[in-house]
Amino acid sequence: MILSIESSCDDSSIAITRICDGALLYHKKISQELDHSVYGGVVPELAARLHALALPKILEETKAYFPELKAIAVTNEPGLSVSLVEGIVMAKALSVALKLPILPINHLKGHIYSLFLEQKTQFPLDVLLVSGGHTQILHIDDYDHIYIMATTLDDSFGESFDKVSKMLGLGYPGGPIVEQYAKEGNAQAFNFTVPLSNSPKMAFSFSGLKNQVRLCIEAHTPMDDTLRADICASFQKVAIAHLMQKLNKVYKNKPLRHLGVVGGASANLSLRAELEKFVQSHDAQLHVAPLAYCSDNAAMIGRCAIDAYKLKRFVPMDQILAHPRSSEFIK
Ligand code: KG4
Ligand code: ZN
Repeated sequence: MILSIESSCDDSSIAITRICDGALLYHKKISQELDHSVYGGVVPELAARLHALALPKILEETKAYFPELKAIAVTNEPGLSVSLVEGIVMAKALSVALKLPILPINHLKGHIYSLFLEQKTQFPLDVLLVSGGHTQILHIDDYDHIYIMATTLDDSFGESFDKVSKMLGLGYPGGPIVEQYAKEGNAQAFNFTVPLSNSPKMAFSFSGLKNQVRLCIEAHTPMDDTLRADICASFQKVAIAHLMQKLNKVYKNKPLRHLGVVGGASANLSLRAELEKFVQSHDAQLHVAPLAYCSDNAAMIGRCAIDAYKLKRFVPMDQILAHPRSSEFIK
């Protein structure tokens, strides 16, 4: 079995995964959302302190598995450095105490493997990664060969939901809140323009859209819930249209057989519905992770670590560092 630790942002999570068949034997996550909510976003120092409290508490519950462990896996990139360090320090302590090797795991790769928690592995695979820190279209041949076909020039898709929510005074994380408000609103109420729609660039940009929403909010104060819902619906429609336009561009002349959607924002049901239509038009298949494993969790890190274990990607303890920015993917 592999014990995996995830602490890259504001979720403290540990999982136990069986190597022979990938079965998830134990998984727990303590989320800090409520603690950060009052600030409208994640406060790194607070996140680190809360990881230091939550991780040992979860670890306590996994002691019965210790004799069966073959490796410790830990997210070491990308993420908030002070948050990553909490998981890495725990992994190193376990490695010394239990005499086990460490597998450092890339968090984005972990999100990709969330697709294989309840389905068998599918490579080659194209992936739309939509999280709080990233918005990318990826082509993946195997564990080691991942190519970025489009990425964001500024904010990420999930982050733009967080910022719209904050501007409307609706709390953090913004994704689920904005999606909920959008359900009640009129998506035609405001005519926000789709970013980079006339640009040939294979890239995303959400900062201009965020500014359009900001100006709209300023022009409509005082705000009420009907207006909030209309703004959320109009914003969400355009944010998703932007993703779809660029996906259409990328796959205009490129074959598509299997498209996965991963990351916290892949839980958005309007996005999933648009992607379903998109893959059908390409005669392709859409792969989604179970809703419970879209946001950050150690189960996906453990699933990814099985491939890392089979490839013997153990790294000596003194070489394992937290990398706030991802270094592994090829641009
Ligand atoms: O993958 P994740 O849990 O953390 C990172 O690796 O960043 O993604 C969190 C992001 C947040 O920005 C959150 O607002 C967004 O995913 N998110 C959503 C939804 N649920 C979470 N965005 C849009 N719609 C949602 N339903
Ligand atoms: Zn994530």
